[in-house]
Amino acid sequence: MSQKMKIVAAKEAIKYVKNNMKLGLGTGSTVDEFLKLLSVEVKNGLNILGVVTSEKTKVLSESLRIPLTTLSDVKDLDLTIDGADEVDPDLSLIKGGGGALLREKIIAYNSKELIIIADKTKLVSKLGDFMIPVEVSPYEHEATSSRIMQKLDEIGYNGSIKLRQYEGDIFVTDGGNFIYDISIGLVGEPYIIEQLLNSIPGVFENGLFINLTTKVIIGNENAVDVIER
Ligand code: 5RP
Repeated sequence: MSQKMKIVAAKEAIKYVKNNMKLGLGTGSTVDEFLKLLSVEVKNGLNILGVVTSEKTKVLSESLRIPLTTLSDVKDLDLTIDGADEVDPDLSLIKGGGGALLREKIIAYNSKELIIIADKTKLVSKLGDFMIPVEVSPYEHEATSSRIMQKLDEIGYNGSIKLRQYEGDIFVTDGGNFIYDISIGLVGEPYIIEQLLNSIPGVFENGLFINLTTKVIIGNENAVDVIER
């Protein structure tokens, strides 16, 4: 069911892709649907260049023959299409369920437009049900995790923190880092939390995306809702 909604959202997003665009390509199962549609357009003559946000997206894009480049080659991007784990009414997001948050935020920051595609289960009135991913340096990461919880506690947020695992081992990001997932309940001030987390040495980035999204396309069973700033 949610797969169908992801395809509906991806189909709408393809309408925003124009010839000669430089495109940021996000990560996740919803973006995978978008990539499949994009490859059909490319086969039919659409001229675009993509910059990927993960090794997973790179592998799929290459297999679909989507032409790729790098941000350093093209300098900036016209549009990025990405997914999200939670979207609130201000278009603030939690991302990083797939572990690509650092590269996704770099690409979003360097893109004129960020369109998020998601099935309707991702829409929430307040962020925070989904755990907030925090990408950290492996070096002394336990100390970094203690500081994260201490700093959050100092501003009145407490909860739990968990080092992300994958198949019995520590999950390692494409950049060779670790991820801690934090649960602190619903987040009233996502901007403050985003800044606080990123101020702690050892933290590279966190999954709160604030003031980056220009449009959200929510896929329902047969139609979309488009939410704009
Ligand atoms: C990866 C992400 C994804 O965009 C997010 O997890 C949504 O994934 P999906 O489309 O599979 O639900 O942030 O880091």
